[in-house]
Amino acid sequence: MRIVLSDTYRDMSRRAAYIVASQIILNPRSVLGLATGDTPLGLYRMLISMYWAGDLDFSGITTFNLDEYHGLSEESPYSYHFYMKQNFFQHINMKEEQWHIPRGTTENVEEECRLYDRAIENAGGIDLQILGLGVDGHIGFNEPDEKFEGGTHLVELQESTIRANARFFPSLEEVPRFALSMGIKTIMKAKKILLLASGASKAGAIYEALRGEVIPELPASILQLHPDVTCILDKGAASRMEAAGDDLLPKKYTS
Ligand code: GLP
Repeated sequence: MRIVLSDTYRDMSRRAAYIVASQIILNPRSVLGLATGDTPLGLYRMLISMYWAGDLDFSGITTFNLDEYHGLSEESPYSYHFYMKQNFFQHINMKEEQWHIPRGTTENVEEECRLYDRAIENAGGIDLQILGLGVDGHIGFNEPDEKFEGGTHLVELQESTIRANARFFPSLEEVPRFALSMGIKTIMKAKKILLLASGASKAGAIYEALRGEVIPELPASILQLHPDVTCILDKGAASRMEAAGDDLLPKKYTS
């Protein structure tokens, strides 16, 4: 696990963009795993700028998103389909057939999940998976549980996640209670993982994920077992580790 510290959200996004850009430049046919939420927005903006500057070409890239709300159509402005088009896909040279997001309105959830995992396998697996982090330590929509979930599956969202994500909806009542999410196994199969966390609200989850026990009650803790994780934190997200003088942090932050 590599930890990179950034002073600001913008700096975190810029460093993340360099890592994703290198992946695309070194392998123009890369398969990327993408995340939603506020955290990766700065990263997407920087990748778009690099594309407009002529430095990145997405024409050979395939993407798979982590998750989608159950019951929301692709047109819903609250869906992750809408988010991805609005914040990323419509600004770069990617055609619709290149990106994949679980369909929230599917009538057969099990089949949708099975086909999603198969599509990832058929694409050769994920080369670089981008992850954000929930305040309860969830990744994708893999909520704290008694066991680590395997493949893509239907998840019942925790009250804390519903509350945290309510800011994207007109009211708390309109936040869907279920979602389709890549499972922990799907995420762990990615060749490389880039975990981003910003703000003090994530400091506790980051500390537990990187330093706590590997337990399904803190889903992101499984990342300790992945051989190639880069974690970029801004000051807020690193604050708990910093306070503990953690030796995983680069020296200038702990001395
Ligand atoms: C949602 C998404 C996650 C994301 C998390 C954190 O629950 N399913 O993939 O990492 O929110 O979101 P934010 O980056 O807005 O804090």
